[in-house]
Amino acid sequence: MTAIDEPGAVADPSLDGPAVGVIVVAAGSGTRLGAGIPKAFVSLAGSTVLEHALAPVFRLRDAVQVVVVVPADRVGQAETIGRRAAGKAADHLRVVAGGDTRQSSVLAGLAALWPGVRTVLVHDAARALTPTGQFERVIEAAERTGWGIVPGLAVTDTIKRVDASDLVEQTVDRTALRAVQTPQAFPRDALVAAFRVAEDRLAAATDDAALYADAGHPVLTVGGSEAAFKITTPWDAQRAERLLADRERDREHEVGARTTTSIRTGIGIDVHAFADDGELSLAGLSWPGERPLAGHSDGDAVAHAIVDALLSAAGLGDIGSMFGTDDPRFAGASGEVFLRAAVERLHAAGFVVVNVAVQLVGNRPRFAPRRAEAEGVLSALVHGPVSVAATTTDALGFTGRGEGVTAIATALIERR
Ligand code: CTP
Ligand code: MG
Repeated sequence: MTAIDEPGAVADPSLDGPAVGVIVVAAGSGTRLGAGIPKAFVSLAGSTVLEHALAPVFRLRDAVQVVVVVPADRVGQAETIGRRAAGKAADHLRVVAGGDTRQSSVLAGLAALWPGVRTVLVHDAARALTPTGQFERVIEAAERTGWGIVPGLAVTDTIKRVDASDLVEQTVDRTALRAVQTPQAFPRDALVAAFRVAEDRLAAATDDAALYADAGHPVLTVGGSEAAFKITTPWDAQRAERLLADRERDREHEVGARTTTSIRTGIGIDVHAFADDGELSLAGLSWPGERPLAGHSDGDAVAHAIVDALLSAAGLGDIGSMFGTDDPRFAGASGEVFLRAAVERLHAAGFVVVNVAVQLVGNRPRFAPRRAEAEGVLSALVHGPVSVAATTTDALGFTGRGEGVTAIATALIERR
């Protein structure tokens, strides 16, 4: 039974808050970057370094307390930036003034943690492109082991140990080396105690894990990432800006790809010669008194062109591959049969028809008087608007000589 469960005990609301706190130190002056303002407030691709650094923290799945440490005269500005990055989670954010050294800034951050925080992460705002996954890896390892956790990368350069006059003494075994980054995670109480014990040596420590390890605690490395590099020089800043631009472009490509895969276009063409006997079937209508079109089926070039346009839009092949032009089951079959079957396949593949447009090329029949009738029949068959236009070829070619007709169709379909 916990203290809170005991009869009469009053719960301390501050203990109900997040168990993880993230201190983002951003109080440095950025001397090496040389922008004339503190590094965290320098603009990179339209947002400040600080805002870029906070964005991945507020993408974490589980809530954390976020403490931002900035130069004393920048607290107000940092609150505005922090609120923008935090959005609806602004109540999880605190901004405090830092000190002259990185370690004094970390101490100011530690002092601002809520009582319920058990695990604390210390992160450099200067590592502005650190992915959310790196925070998650560090938190998971810290909670699982109860140790200090630092993200690190294997060292790829060959490393030499040299003496005072730069003479090489030894090639260091680089398999045992890690270049470490932030965020670094620690059990909160043990880190506070380690800082207290090391008070007089704080300035000498190059990272928080060094102080923590000096106090006798185990520190484990987990995988870091190239993106978590520290922006120190103008070169680093332009590299970060370039990487942010690449990310933005990739994101736009993704959005574009999603749009184009849900809407698809297709094209179909069919040609039939006139025959001698029978009745013309065209565009889903019977045309008494007109010369029929020859074909294994009823020769409805308009219907067949639409079928091909629909199948091509859906990537389902064409009328020949789907129905087998020699298949005896389709001997004399009407265009309507093929259209119904193609639309069924289309629906089964998850598509609906947005619209179909057809152009009929030929001298006969005179199409205009029955255009609306044909469009009505075809639209009902494909479950979407079909428009049919007709033209002649000025007496040129086989259509101009009255030997047959051509139909060209385009179809637009959409994934449901
Ligand atoms: N930092 C801090 N307080 C300080 C010094 C540094 O909070 N007194 C923070 C920086 O803002 C940075 C991180 O510690 O996010 C790492 O420090 P560094 O990269 O050295 O940044 P600066 O000290 O700002 O840069 P420079 O050393 O070039 O002046
Ligand atoms: Mg510094």
